[in-house]
Amino acid sequence: MGKKRKIRVAVTGVGNCASALIQGIEYYRHNRSADLGLMHRNLGGYFPEDVEIVAAFDVDRRKVGRPLQEAVLASPNCVIPIWPALPDYGIRVQMGPILDGVAPHMKEFPPERTFVVADEKPVAVEEVLKKTRADIMVNYLPVGSGAATRYYAGCCLLTGVSFVNCMPEFIASDPAWAKQFKKKGIPIIGDDIKSQVGATIIHRVLAHLFEERGAKIKRTYQLNTGGNTDFLNMLERKRLINKKISKTEAVQSQLSTPLADENIHIGPSDYVPWQGDNKVCFLRIEAVNFCGVPLELEARLSVQDSPNSAGVAIDAIRYCQVARDRGEAGALLPASAYLMKHPPRQMDEGDARRRMETYLAAPPKNMKTGR
Ligand SMILES: NC(=O)c1ccc[n+]([C@@H]2O[C@H](COP(=O)([O-])OP(=O)(O)OC[C@H]3O[C@@H](n4cnc5c(N)ncnc54)[C@H](O)[C@@H]3O)[C@@H](O)[C@H]2O)c1
Repeated sequence: MGKKRKIRVAVTGVGNCASALIQGIEYYRHNRSADLGLMHRNLGGYFPEDVEIVAAFDVDRRKVGRPLQEAVLASPNCVIPIWPALPDYGIRVQMGPILDGVAPHMKEFPPERTFVVADEKPVAVEEVLKKTRADIMVNYLPVGSGAATRYYAGCCLLTGVSFVNCMPEFIASDPAWAKQFKKKGIPIIGDDIKSQVGATIIHRVLAHLFEERGAKIKRTYQLNTGGNTDFLNMLERKRLINKKISKTEAVQSQLSTPLADENIHIGPSDYVPWQGDNKVCFLRIEAVNFCGVPLELEARLSVQDSPNSAGVAIDAIRYCQVARDRGEAGALLPASAYLMKHPPRQMDEGDARRRMETYLAAPPKNMKTGR
């Protein structure tokens, strides 16, 4: 058998999530026997170190024009060091179009905490994707970057590149966009990445457990605080609309009767600078069980936000490449349901995972359905 080729990935937004992903790839390249911390060491024949970054786009002057290995460690990124001794990738971060990527309120904060826009002229992203022969673009733009996300997704459509959409703008879950990717024969996964063990999956699993055990949930909240630029950006409430929809639907979809709006409150709640990339989630469920007797649950989860999402992105990228290899097109349903908060179709976690595993285990020629 010939040598398996690499998965050629372009990233847009070289922030904390991209940094954790890129450092993570190096970590697993150097720890080949370890599957510690991975959902799959081998996913459909691809290993984490098979992911090769071939292009990167950003708009921050501390990243644009810099070698990728320096840019991922540049301020205001604050992810904990995972594998900071990065090799020379031979690529530089290129200037993307700013569009709505940088919110006005971000300018009010000191540079070490916020985005600082570069003066460079944006490159033609479509041309870069062609030239670098990218297979997949991973979208890590800030929450609220609706126009910028659509610009990058449009470049993918024009160049046959898959889109793994890790943020809450609706592309895979927008039937019109999904249809366009399908028509062009391009598989995509989205939207808004779940973390490996994060607030969303815990809240979903708990909601499902209550439901299954006959405990009726009356009210619930999930309050999240953090100190990275993602949380700083989300101080602007107007940018949060899709994030709140994405996080709330992820939990509501587990209940046979969704809660009234006033009884469910889920979202990023505050920016606490000293927390850096440490996200803390406070979760409360109030329910009644046998004979209507009340029951309350409180949970607190403390995680490093960006590695937690990279642990899922590393599977989304490889699954998307397997689907490319098999000639699939359009939104990949079980993978989107398992790996993303706002998929085109919500599924039970176990069901989505089983369908993914069946697809990965099946011989490619049998697998034109059940993606
Ligand atoms: N666990 C997680 O961390 C997690 C989970 C789910 C979703 N997400 C989402 O993933 C996205 C990325 O998160 P992050 O923590 O890396 O954010 P970040 O703030 O660290 O990085 C965003 C990057 O995008 C750059 N940028 C801004 N406008 C741009 C443009 N027009 N073109 C190219 N680059 C641009 C910024 O300079 C910055 O480097 C966010 O939308 C976040 O909500 C993160």
